[in-house]
Amino acid sequence: MSLAARARQELLKFRWYGVTFVDWIGYLRRRRAFRTAATKTTVHHINKPIRHRSRHTFQIADDRVLSTGQMELRWKIVTSLYPKKLTSLLDIGCCRGWFIVKAAMLPECEAALGVDVVPEFIDAANEAKRLLKLDKAQFENAFLNDLEHDRQKYRLPYQTLLLINTYHYLYWGSTYCPTHWPDQDYLLRTLASMCTDRMLLMSPLEVSDCPSDIAERARKHPDWAEQYTTSRFLEIASRYFDVSLERYLGIRPLYLMKKK
Ligand SMILES: C[S@@+](CC[C@H](N)C(=O)[O-])C[C@H]1O[C@@H](n2cnc3c(N)ncnc32)[C@H](O)[C@@H]1O
Repeated sequence: MSLAARARQELLKFRWYGVTFVDWIGYLRRRRAFRTAATKTTVHHINKPIRHRSRHTFQIADDRVLSTGQMELRWKIVTSLYPKKLTSLLDIGCCRGWFIVKAAMLPECEAALGVDVVPEFIDAANEAKRLLKLDKAQFENAFLNDLEHDRQKYRLPYQTLLLINTYHYLYWGSTYCPTHWPDQDYLLRTLASMCTDRMLLMSPLEVSDCPSDIAERARKHPDWAEQYTTSRFLEIASRYFDVSLERYLGIRPLYLMKKK
Protein backbone atom coordinates (compact mmCIF):
# COMPACT_ATOMS: atom_id res chain seq x y z
CA MET A 1 0.00 0.00 0.00
CA SER A 2 1.33 3.46 -0.89
CA LEU A 3 2.24 5.98 1.81
CA ALA A 4 -0.62 8.27 0.72
CA ALA A 5 -3.17 5.41 0.91
CA ARG A 6 -1.90 4.45 4.36
CA ALA A 7 -2.07 8.06 5.57
CA ARG A 8 -5.67 8.29 4.32
CA GLN A 9 -6.58 5.10 6.19
CA GLU A 10 -5.09 6.44 9.41
CA LEU A 11 -7.03 9.68 8.92
CA LEU A 12 -10.28 7.73 8.44
CA LYS A 13 -9.62 5.76 11.63
CA PHE A 14 -8.91 8.96 13.52
CA ARG A 15 -12.18 10.37 12.17
CA TRP A 16 -13.97 7.34 13.67
CA TYR A 17 -12.69 8.23 17.15
CA GLY A 18 -13.71 11.89 16.66
CA VAL A 19 -17.21 10.91 15.55
CA THR A 20 -17.45 8.42 18.43
CA PHE A 21 -16.76 11.12 20.99
CA VAL A 22 -19.06 13.76 19.51
CA ASP A 23 -21.88 11.33 18.88
CA TRP A 24 -21.59 9.74 22.30
CA ILE A 25 -22.64 13.06 23.81
CA GLY A 26 -25.53 13.26 21.31
CA TYR A 27 -26.52 9.70 22.18
CA LEU A 28 -26.64 10.45 25.92
CA ARG A 29 -28.94 13.39 25.18
CA ARG A 30 -31.24 11.27 23.00
CA ARG A 31 -31.28 8.56 25.67
CA ARG A 32 -32.32 11.05 28.33
CA ALA A 33 -35.14 12.39 26.10
CA PHE A 34 -36.27 8.83 25.36
CA ARG A 35 -36.30 7.90 29.05
CA THR A 36 -38.25 11.02 29.97
CA ALA A 37 -40.89 10.25 27.32
CA ALA A 38 -40.87 6.59 28.36
CA THR A 39 -41.95 7.36 31.94
CA LYS A 40 -45.43 8.13 30.56
CA THR A 41 -45.87 4.99 28.46
CA THR A 42 -45.00 1.29 28.08
CA VAL A 43 -41.48 0.52 26.88
CA HIS A 44 -41.04 -2.55 24.64
CA HIS A 45 -37.64 -4.21 24.44
CA ILE A 46 -36.68 -5.74 21.11
CA ASN A 47 -34.01 -8.07 22.48
CA LYS A 48 -35.23 -11.61 21.87
CA PRO A 49 -33.90 -14.26 21.69
CA ILE A 50 -32.22 -13.24 24.95
CA ARG A 51 -29.66 -16.06 24.67
CA HIS A 52 -28.06 -14.24 21.73
CA ARG A 53 -25.92 -11.65 23.45
CA SER A 54 -25.68 -8.80 20.98
CA ARG A 55 -25.63 -5.01 20.91
CA HIS A 56 -28.24 -5.18 18.17
CA THR A 57 -31.20 -4.53 20.50
CA PHE A 58 -33.52 -1.56 20.81
CA GLN A 59 -36.44 -0.13 22.75
CA ILE A 60 -39.74 1.28 21.55
CA ALA A 61 -41.91 3.75 23.42
CA ASP A 62 -44.95 4.83 21.34
CA ASP A 63 -43.37 6.06 18.07
CA ARG A 64 -39.88 6.59 19.53
CA VAL A 65 -37.03 4.12 19.10
CA LEU A 66 -33.66 3.96 20.82
CA SER A 67 -30.88 1.43 20.30
CA THR A 68 -27.61 0.83 22.12
CA GLY A 69 -24.88 3.46 21.83
CA GLN A 70 -22.85 1.30 19.45
CA MET A 71 -25.77 0.60 17.11
CA GLU A 72 -26.85 4.25 17.04
CA LEU A 73 -23.31 5.26 16.15
CA ARG A 74 -23.12 2.60 13.45
CA TRP A 75 -26.42 3.81 12.05
CA LYS A 76 -25.12 7.37 11.88
CA ILE A 77 -21.96 6.35 10.01
CA VAL A 78 -23.71 3.93 7.66
CA THR A 79 -26.46 6.41 6.78
CA SER A 80 -23.83 9.03 5.91
CA LEU A 81 -23.13 6.79 2.88
CA TYR A 82 -26.78 6.37 1.84
CA PRO A 83 -27.83 8.07 -1.41
CA LYS A 84 -29.18 11.62 -0.92
CA LYS A 85 -32.65 10.13 -1.02
CA LEU A 86 -32.97 6.57 0.27
CA THR A 87 -35.84 5.11 -1.75
CA SER A 88 -35.51 1.41 -0.87
CA LEU A 89 -33.25 -0.71 1.31
CA LEU A 90 -32.34 -4.40 1.54
CA ASP A 91 -30.42 -5.57 4.63
CA ILE A 92 -28.95 -9.09 4.40
CA GLY A 93 -28.14 -10.41 7.91
CA CYS A 94 -30.52 -7.82 9.40
CA CYS A 95 -30.56 -9.38 12.91
CA ARG A 96 -33.44 -7.72 14.83
CA GLY A 97 -33.99 -5.21 12.06
CA TRP A 98 -32.66 -1.91 13.44
CA PHE A 99 -31.51 -0.53 10.06
CA ILE A 100 -34.74 -1.56 8.33
CA VAL A 101 -36.91 -0.08 11.08
CA LYS A 102 -35.05 3.24 10.85
CA ALA A 103 -35.30 3.26 7.03
CA ALA A 104 -39.02 2.45 7.04
CA MET A 105 -39.57 5.46 9.30
CA LEU A 106 -38.27 7.77 6.53
CA PRO A 107 -41.11 9.15 4.36
CA GLU A 108 -39.00 8.91 1.17
CA CYS A 109 -38.19 5.20 1.68
CA GLU A 110 -40.86 3.20 -0.16
CA ALA A 111 -39.76 -0.34 0.71
CA ALA A 112 -37.37 -1.90 3.19
CA LEU A 113 -36.61 -5.63 3.42
CA GLY A 114 -34.52 -7.32 6.10
CA VAL A 115 -33.56 -11.00 5.84
CA ASP A 116 -31.80 -13.23 8.32
CA VAL A 117 -31.24 -16.95 8.82
CA VAL A 118 -32.26 -16.94 12.49
CA PRO A 119 -36.09 -17.12 12.68
CA GLU A 120 -36.17 -15.67 16.21
CA PHE A 121 -34.40 -12.51 14.99
CA ILE A 122 -37.08 -12.17 12.31
CA ASP A 123 -39.80 -12.62 14.96
CA ALA A 124 -38.22 -9.83 17.02
CA ALA A 125 -38.00 -7.56 13.96
CA ASN A 126 -41.66 -8.26 13.11
CA GLU A 127 -42.64 -7.36 16.67
CA ALA A 128 -40.97 -3.95 16.14
CA LYS A 129 -42.75 -3.56 12.79
CA ARG A 130 -46.09 -4.28 14.48
CA LEU A 131 -45.52 -1.91 17.40
CA LEU A 132 -44.42 0.93 15.13
CA LYS A 133 -47.04 0.16 12.44
CA LEU A 134 -44.36 0.13 9.75
CA ASP A 135 -46.23 -1.26 6.75
CA LYS A 136 -43.29 -0.52 4.44
CA ALA A 137 -40.97 -2.84 6.39
CA GLN A 138 -40.78 -6.53 5.46
CA PHE A 139 -38.79 -9.15 7.37
CA GLU A 140 -38.15 -12.66 6.10
CA ASN A 141 -36.31 -15.71 7.32
CA ALA A 142 -34.35 -16.23 4.11
CA PHE A 143 -30.97 -17.15 2.65
CA LEU A 144 -29.21 -15.48 -0.24
CA ASN A 145 -30.39 -18.20 -2.66
CA ASP A 146 -34.03 -17.79 -1.53
CA LEU A 147 -33.85 -14.17 -2.63
CA GLU A 148 -32.22 -15.13 -5.90
CA HIS A 149 -34.83 -17.80 -6.70
CA ASP A 150 -37.90 -15.70 -5.95
CA ARG A 151 -37.04 -12.14 -6.91
CA GLN A 152 -40.72 -11.25 -7.22
CA LYS A 153 -41.67 -12.35 -3.69
CA TYR A 154 -38.77 -10.32 -2.26
CA ARG A 155 -39.42 -7.40 -4.61
CA LEU A 156 -35.83 -7.28 -5.86
CA PRO A 157 -33.85 -5.20 -6.68
CA TYR A 158 -33.50 -2.50 -4.03
CA GLN A 159 -31.79 0.84 -4.48
CA THR A 160 -29.39 0.26 -1.56
CA LEU A 161 -28.07 -2.98 -0.11
CA LEU A 162 -26.56 -3.30 3.37
CA LEU A 163 -24.20 -6.12 4.24
CA ILE A 164 -22.81 -5.33 7.65
CA ASN A 165 -20.71 -8.00 9.36
CA THR A 166 -22.33 -10.79 7.32
CA TYR A 167 -20.30 -11.27 4.10
CA HIS A 168 -17.88 -13.70 5.81
CA TYR A 169 -20.85 -15.89 6.82
CA LEU A 170 -22.08 -16.02 3.23
CA TYR A 171 -18.64 -17.24 2.13
CA TRP A 172 -17.85 -19.57 5.04
CA GLY A 173 -21.23 -20.47 6.58
CA SER A 174 -22.00 -20.00 10.25
CA THR A 175 -23.15 -21.99 13.25
CA TYR A 176 -26.65 -20.66 12.49
CA CYS A 177 -26.60 -21.69 8.88
CA PRO A 178 -24.24 -24.13 7.16
CA THR A 179 -25.33 -23.01 3.66
CA HIS A 180 -22.52 -20.97 2.12
CA TRP A 181 -20.83 -20.09 -1.14
CA PRO A 182 -17.03 -20.09 -1.10
CA ASP A 183 -16.93 -18.20 -4.38
CA GLN A 184 -16.43 -14.44 -4.23
CA ASP A 185 -17.35 -13.95 -7.87
CA TYR A 186 -20.71 -15.68 -7.39
CA LEU A 187 -21.40 -13.72 -4.18
CA LEU A 188 -20.49 -10.30 -5.54
CA ARG A 189 -22.28 -10.86 -8.86
CA THR A 190 -25.42 -12.01 -7.05
CA LEU A 191 -25.31 -9.15 -4.56
CA ALA A 192 -24.82 -6.68 -7.42
CA SER A 193 -27.97 -8.06 -9.09
CA MET A 194 -29.96 -7.21 -5.95
CA CYS A 195 -29.25 -3.47 -5.87
CA THR A 196 -29.61 -0.69 -8.41
CA ASP A 197 -27.41 1.99 -6.91
CA ARG A 198 -25.02 0.82 -4.18
CA MET A 199 -23.99 -1.70 -1.58
CA LEU A 200 -22.47 -0.72 1.77
CA LEU A 201 -20.28 -3.51 3.12
CA MET A 202 -18.30 -4.05 6.27
CA SER A 203 -16.99 -7.51 7.22
CA PRO A 204 -13.75 -9.24 8.10
CA LEU A 205 -12.15 -9.96 4.73
CA GLU A 206 -9.13 -11.91 5.98
CA VAL A 207 -9.39 -15.32 7.65
CA SER A 208 -7.25 -14.05 10.53
CA ASP A 209 -9.94 -11.43 11.33
CA CYS A 210 -12.87 -13.90 11.22
CA PRO A 211 -14.42 -15.73 14.22
CA SER A 212 -12.55 -18.86 15.39
CA ASP A 213 -15.03 -21.35 13.86
CA ILE A 214 -14.22 -19.87 10.46
CA ALA A 215 -10.49 -20.18 11.15
CA GLU A 216 -11.15 -23.86 11.87
CA ARG A 217 -13.01 -24.29 8.55
CA ALA A 218 -10.24 -22.42 6.74
CA ARG A 219 -7.69 -24.95 7.99
CA LYS A 220 -9.77 -27.73 6.43
CA HIS A 221 -10.22 -25.84 3.15
CA PRO A 222 -6.95 -24.11 2.28
CA ASP A 223 -8.20 -23.56 -1.29
CA TRP A 224 -11.12 -21.44 -0.01
CA ALA A 225 -8.83 -19.69 2.47
CA GLU A 226 -6.40 -18.76 -0.29
CA GLN A 227 -9.19 -16.92 -2.10
CA TYR A 228 -10.50 -15.13 1.00
CA THR A 229 -8.33 -12.02 1.19
CA THR A 230 -9.04 -8.30 1.03
CA SER A 231 -7.09 -7.90 -2.19
CA ARG A 232 -9.00 -10.74 -3.91
CA PHE A 233 -12.28 -9.27 -2.64
CA LEU A 234 -11.42 -5.83 -4.05
CA GLU A 235 -10.24 -7.29 -7.36
CA ILE A 236 -13.46 -9.27 -7.89
CA ALA A 237 -15.73 -6.54 -6.52
CA SER A 238 -14.30 -4.13 -9.10
CA ARG A 239 -15.94 -6.24 -11.84
CA TYR A 240 -19.38 -5.19 -10.60
CA PHE A 241 -18.85 -2.08 -8.45
CA ASP A 242 -16.74 1.05 -8.11
CA VAL A 243 -15.40 0.47 -4.62
CA SER A 244 -14.13 3.12 -2.25
CA LEU A 245 -13.15 3.00 1.39
CA GLU A 246 -15.08 5.90 2.86
CA ARG A 247 -15.38 5.38 6.59
CA TYR A 248 -14.49 3.01 9.41
CA LEU A 249 -16.93 1.17 11.64
CA GLY A 250 -14.74 0.60 14.67
CA ILE A 251 -11.59 -1.07 13.40
CA ARG A 252 -13.10 -2.28 10.13
CA PRO A 253 -13.34 -0.48 6.78
CA LEU A 254 -16.82 0.35 5.53
CA TYR A 255 -16.82 0.13 1.74
CA LEU A 256 -19.05 2.22 -0.50
CA MET A 257 -19.70 0.05 -3.56
CA LYS A 258 -21.41 1.93 -6.39
CA LYS A 259 -22.97 -0.29 -9.07
CA LYS A 260 -21.16 -0.21 -12.43
C1 LIG B 1 -22.55 -10.20 13.25
S1 LIG B 1 -24.29 -10.21 12.97
C2 LIG B 1 -24.53 -8.64 12.19
C3 LIG B 1 -25.96 -8.17 12.30
C4 LIG B 1 -26.25 -6.80 11.70
N1 LIG B 1 -25.98 -6.76 10.27
C5 LIG B 1 -25.50 -5.72 12.43
O1 LIG B 1 -24.62 -5.10 11.83
O2 LIG B 1 -25.79 -5.52 13.60
C6 LIG B 1 -24.42 -11.34 11.63
C7 LIG B 1 -25.84 -11.58 11.20
O3 LIG B 1 -25.82 -12.41 10.05
C8 LIG B 1 -26.76 -13.45 10.21
N2 LIG B 1 -26.28 -14.57 9.41
C9 LIG B 1 -25.44 -15.54 9.73
N3 LIG B 1 -25.26 -16.37 8.70
C10 LIG B 1 -26.01 -15.87 7.70
C11 LIG B 1 -26.26 -16.29 6.37
N4 LIG B 1 -25.66 -17.37 5.87
N5 LIG B 1 -27.12 -15.55 5.61
C12 LIG B 1 -27.73 -14.44 6.12
N6 LIG B 1 -27.52 -14.01 7.39
C13 LIG B 1 -26.67 -14.72 8.15
C14 LIG B 1 -26.81 -13.72 11.70
O4 LIG B 1 -28.01 -14.33 12.09
C15 LIG B 1 -26.67 -12.30 12.26
O5 LIG B 1 -27.90 -11.64 12.40
